[in-house]
Amino acid sequence: DMMAELLGHRRLEEKLKEKLGVSQAIVVAGDSDEEEWVKQELGRACVDELKRVAKKGDVFAVMGGTTLAAVANMVTPDETLATTTFVPARGGLGEKVEIQANTISAEFARRSGASYRLLHVPDQLSEEAYHSLVLERSVREILDVITSSAVVMHGIGDARRMAARRDSGQPFIETLKREEAVAEAFGYYFNANGEIIHKQRTIGLQLGELEGKYVISIAGGHTKANAILAYMKNRPSDVLVTDEGAARRLLSE
Ligand code: BG6
Repeated sequence: DMMAELLGHRRLEEKLKEKLGVSQAIVVAGDSDEEEWVKQELGRACVDELKRVAKKGDVFAVMGGTTLAAVANMVTPDETLATTTFVPARGGLGEKVEIQANTISAEFARRSGASYRLLHVPDQLSEEAYHSLVLERSVREILDVITSSAVVMHGIGDARRMAARRDSGQPFIETLKREEAVAEAFGYYFNANGEIIHKQRTIGLQLGELEGKYVISIAGGHTKANAILAYMKNRPSDVLVTDEGAARRLLSE
């Protein structure tokens, strides 16, 4: 029954907190690898958490991916959120437009009544282009807004699946295999120990700049268990929003 299910989730949440070192874990029913609706539940839980911590005038930085797209879809008009601004946390990372951080942050804003700012940067940046872009006034302005964000929301991906989805090319995929990449989160690739083995060159929030921000990680599905574990070894978030499928696999239940 529902009560038993709820208690089961509370127990998983406690165990996850202990295993991952996160301050808070939220587990929703189901397995998003098996059923599509579970992503909506992840979205609902994440939106509740966002509304709980949101303060007037806050800036929220969001990443891309199908999970974050599902979160944005669950947003409803809100008085506090209407005073806030959504921005992408980092520039283009080779994703389809529907699941790019820019698109998702605009969707968050449209549904909640908030404002948004876009970060226009191409996906493949040469070292040279990168250095001149960050000097552009318009780019610097939006980067300042991103840096001022109070809350960051991001997904966690399986490393190889992410590289393939981003058309990263065979040599790179071989490197990830050789280096035993497990997880990906906002353009960084991690091994099972949580060590960074590669970072995609784009502007915006860097991992080291998350200090002092409230970080919400959202990832579900049993096939993401290892990726979640690896990423959390690098930097346990303030909140992990996940599903039963991932939680049970993570705790090997
Ligand atoms: C990417 C984000 O767009 O989506 C990553 O940059 C994340 O932070 C990934 O790992 C997850 O994608 P999905 O579709 O599994 O939610």
